Amino acid sequence: MNLKRRDFLKTTTASTLAAPFILNGQKAKMYKTAVIGAGWWGMNIAGAALASRQCKITALCDVDDHQLAVAQEKMRPLTSDVARQYKDYRELLQKEKPEIVIVATPDHWHALPTIAAIEAGADVYVEKPICHTIYEGRAMVKAAREHERVVQVGLHRRTSPHNMSAIQFLKQGGAGEIGMIRSFVHHDGGPGRATPDSEIPAGLDWDFWCGPAPYRPYNSKIHPRGFRSFLDFANGQLGDWGIHWLDHILWWTEEKYPKSVHSVAARHILQDNTEAPDTQVVHFEFQDFIATWESRRYGGNAAEKHELGIYFYGTLGTVHIGWHDGWTFYPVRNGAIVHEPPQLHEPDQQNIPELWANFLTCIESREKPICDIEIGHRSTTMSLLGMLSAKVGRSIAWDGEQQIILHDPEANQYLKRDYRAPWSYPL
Ligand SMILES: NC(=O)c1ccc[n+]([C@@H]2O[C@H](COP(=O)([O-])OP(=O)(O)OC[C@H]3O[C@@H](n4cnc5c(N)ncnc54)[C@H](O)[C@@H]3O)[C@@H](O)[C@H]2O)c1
Repeated sequence: MNLKRRDFLKTTTASTLAAPFILNGQKAKMYKTAVIGAGWWGMNIAGAALASRQCKITALCDVDDHQLAVAQEKMRPLTSDVARQYKDYRELLQKEKPEIVIVATPDHWHALPTIAAIEAGADVYVEKPICHTIYEGRAMVKAAREHERVVQVGLHRRTSPHNMSAIQFLKQGGAGEIGMIRSFVHHDGGPGRATPDSEIPAGLDWDFWCGPAPYRPYNSKIHPRGFRSFLDFANGQLGDWGIHWLDHILWWTEEKYPKSVHSVAARHILQDNTEAPDTQVVHFEFQDFIATWESRRYGGNAAEKHELGIYFYGTLGTVHIGWHDGWTFYPVRNGAIVHEPPQLHEPDQQNIPELWANFLTCIESREKPICDIEIGHRSTTMSLLGMLSAKVGRSIAWDGEQQIILHDPEANQYLKRDYRAPWSYPL
């Protein structure tokens, strides 16, 4: 879905151009807010920040001048303030000293700016998946705790009314005892075509964009937005969509992590120049239940009722939690189907404003937010363990307390990776 300027304005203009927010008769605090990664989703979050009327976007940072220009243009109708522009987040942090930083770069660029912003004293809203390899996430949690910063992860479904009430229904035993969970995303599509590498567009610092990941020639399929399907920069469908639904499993259960993970992944259909699997299945074994993830980038159909989401199979019935289709309880035998539609915001049907409101409340109270970095780390870890098992081609036994794979030195190597100079892997 493309960010439509019309939709962006529809939700944000009126409130952000209004007078400053008055709380208990007092002018509410305005937080100096910076965006690192001013692309599609970064500017959706910026829209919610402005709409809260407690944030002033003082600086935008992107390694691509074109993205910066588009971002500035999107902000124009929302605020009379003009954000200063940066290409290097380190310079932004040093000069601007923001109180809040939004990190919405591609996944391989989440860890370093988040940790740098935390060390510079900012509270951070970082996008999911929080990292590209698991030990980056561990370092992000450590930095947040050492510097006592509020770090919210962009898993906005944790504040979606329908996702919240579905989890409450499950926790209250509405579907009975759950023995199995199935999460999935199926897309329509076909083999596609390869896009050749091309000249680096003017104004894009491609070397900086690749950053700690291996350098490769520019390809328009990668940037903007296409990085999801390239494994040096992201983790395919499992890292992109999977984390939203795997997060529901950890939200519902008292267990903190799976004890073993097994995945198979392949490219059976796609013939374009992307790299991520087009077909993947992951099994997660927990103490009290088994969960699976399935993704497919072809074969969309009307036979399967839902194209994405998660099913919880219980002794009293099955709950499906989705996106546009809300949540539904299908009882085992006779009995009423329960359904709740979603309550989503434009643009792009999300619940960022609710998540942002919780972030601001926690910045004030210094409590952990609803999608605290540790929650994001655990859910991201589930996605990344799935990719890791597929990579080594065998089951892995996970010790979530120590964050190590048991009895498998080769697999443990992939919990981190070498960074390209001059960048250093965070510890
Ligand atoms: N929570 C959600 O539902 C949701 C939805 C969409 C995207 N996202 C996440 O948001 C992130 C961004 O995705 P997107 O679709 O907006 O991608 P995008 O390509 O539109 O935007 C990313 C921007 O980051 C910039 N960038 C790259 N390296 C940078 C660096 N070192 N410093 C500053 N800028 C840099 C790129 O030039 C680009 O403009 C991803 O992690 C994605 O998973 C989350």
